[in-house]
Amino acid sequence: MEQHIAEAIGRPDLIRLDDRLVCLRFETMKVVSALTAVEHLLATGAVRRGDTLLDSSSGIYAYALALACHRHGMRCHIVGSTTVDHTLRTQLALLGATLEQMEPCADLKLDQKRRVARIQEILAEHPDYHWMRQYHDDIHYLGYRAVADHVREQLGASEPLTVVGGVGSGVSTGALARYLRESGGDVRLVGVQPFGSITFGSEHVADPDIIIAGIGSSIPFGNVRHASYDVVHWVSFDAALAGSVDLLRRHAVFAGLSTGAGHLTAGWERAQDPGRTVLFIAADTGHRYVDSVFARHHEAARVADLAPRPVTSLDELALPWCRMSWAGADAPAAAVA
Ligand SMILES: Cc1ncc(COP(=O)(O)O)c(C=O)c1O
Repeated sequence: MEQHIAEAIGRPDLIRLDDRLVCLRFETMKVVSALTAVEHLLATGAVRRGDTLLDSSSGIYAYALALACHRHGMRCHIVGSTTVDHTLRTQLALLGATLEQMEPCADLKLDQKRRVARIQEILAEHPDYHWMRQYHDDIHYLGYRAVADHVREQLGASEPLTVVGGVGSGVSTGALARYLRESGGDVRLVGVQPFGSITFGSEHVADPDIIIAGIGSSIPFGNVRHASYDVVHWVSFDAALAGSVDLLRRHAVFAGLSTGAGHLTAGWERAQDPGRTVLFIAADTGHRYVDSVFARHHEAARVADLAPRPVTSLDELALPWCRMSWAGADAPAAAVA
């Protein structure tokens, strides 16, 4: 029996889609990460019950932190981007979290910078608030240890594994690879990025459609461990849409756009390496994407007709889909936090 809904939501399901393709499916990722982070802060005396936890978020971290705060009797204040929608706004209000939503801003870089600046103002006014720094504080890694243990229990300790996932803060992919590797397993890590993100150096290629919620960045993040990644894929909005539609059609998994990009990538990696099981992360459900993605299913390319362009340097990046061996390289200069 769980003591709080956050514990149930935090636990992902493992779904075998075929003999060597597995989906690690979260209802909302980051709940396990926020919950464990808050428990760690309480246990170490860094915060006390009743204190206010503060962070900036474009979506699912806000929900995760609000649930963790609800669970542990903390206050929660979020500086949200324009991508925080009506459903999330309403839930945050009832969960007792306060939300400051920034004015609409088409420029993602400006939006992220304005949110960081606003956090600094709030901290100056309320020095007692604790800033969670989901993009920089590796306290957010801790919660994924239990997920990694579950994956190993289910798939076996000796199964060569390729982990595929979208890189936003970098924590979910970085932490899973870290804990799976610590247990001695053969683990390759494949990061998925949108175009126009500085994290792995695609900022010079614009995607004419929109960004993929939650992955990529226009500012450097300290929590991305570039050296952990073996391969990086850059996926356009249209290619990710094809992946999301295919995942629902073929496997009945209704998940968001970063998951679609991960599914597309995972299918490719699976075909390249017959000796490995490929596990990809599904970070959220498809509800937020009904109009922008699923209702457009007739526009979706067939996944079988898509393939990444292999590139060996970042100058060669181009829409709609590229793959590069990252081989544990350091962060590009612009992505160093
Ligand atoms: C939908 C979605 N997918 C993937 C990610 C990437 O997760 P991480 O921040 O752990 O890199 C996020 C992060 O916000 C997200 O919202």
